[in-house]
Amino acid sequence: PTPVLLDCDPGIDDALAIAYLVAQHLAGRIELVGVVCTAGNVGLDDTVANALAWLDLAGAPPLPVCAGAAGASVVPHVFTPETHGPRGAGYADLTVGKDHGTTTTRARLDPRSGAGLWVDSAREHPGELVAVVTGPSSTLAQALVLEPGLPGLVSELVVMGGTFRGHPGNTTPTSEWNVDVDPEAADAVCLAWERARSAAPDASFSQVSAPLWCGLNLTEQALWTPAHSERLLATSDTPLTRALVDALRLYFEFHDSVGEGYLAQVHDPFVAWLALHPHRVVAEQSHVRVECRGEHTRGMTVEDRRGQRGHVPNARIATAVTLPGGPPAVVDEVLAAIAS
Ligand code: BDR
Ligand code: CA
Repeated sequence: PTPVLLDCDPGIDDALAIAYLVAQHLAGRIELVGVVCTAGNVGLDDTVANALAWLDLAGAPPLPVCAGAAGASVVPHVFTPETHGPRGAGYADLTVGKDHGTTTTRARLDPRSGAGLWVDSAREHPGELVAVVTGPSSTLAQALVLEPGLPGLVSELVVMGGTFRGHPGNTTPTSEWNVDVDPEAADAVCLAWERARSAAPDASFSQVSAPLWCGLNLTEQALWTPAHSERLLATSDTPLTRALVDALRLYFEFHDSVGEGYLAQVHDPFVAWLALHPHRVVAEQSHVRVECRGEHTRGMTVEDRRGQRGHVPNARIATAVTLPGGPPAVVDEVLAAIAS
């Protein structure tokens, strides 16, 4: 099975991504080789504790879980507890994870750094690893310093981040949250793959595949409603599904408070699904850099669709899925996998 590394900041939709990937691992479809935790909407202590707890609830086998970056690369980190709750798990009670895995959780906290786990995983599975990022790119940026050859070692990098094709941001008019909180890190990712792909001689060009950027233009179509929560519980009533449903209630309230309605955009499990179904993704080769200085546009993912910069493509922009039923059908598949 395909080795998969998840770098996340749980986070409510991250929790769904964890549950989905663990289910795929238990079904023998992938090998979840590790989970990196990065500070995101909530602090690193909480993203680590939450990841351990969600992995335990999902019945994950022992696998390395490592603490990555504690904040943004350059500027002070902006936490947003209103989005995912003060501890990042909505109304779910994840007390089982609060000991950071030292006693009760099966997924133990690994002493390596998150960046170290990135590099080790890539080196252990050269040319095979599918890496999924559902939080800020802060830890990945650290890993690229540790191992500049990372783009050549990873088979596929799939990033939930940015917004493309004129679709508005969810943090500023032009920026998506994961990129906005650490634009320097996201831009370091763009630059690393640009360099790797420019340096690759023609023969091996295809060996360094451009990262798949899954932005709000697509992920905002992945909606989880109260009806999904009801169906999840009706199909499978377990401590995991009950905790997910409790977490999601706060996510519904957040989306309601910003005028989206009483539902949730579930970016992260949607992107995890895309990572596992590359043949179902419509994507366009492109060149992307992240605005790190703009007065009104900091955090914007700036795409060069006409090749005016003259660089090789360093990104693929996900624009659609070919699954009949589109993004709603993907959400159904994620739900079914978690319930299985
Ligand atoms: C992203 O920001 C976080 O709040 C979500 O978990 C998702 O990864 C969406 O902009
Ligand atoms: Ca996230």
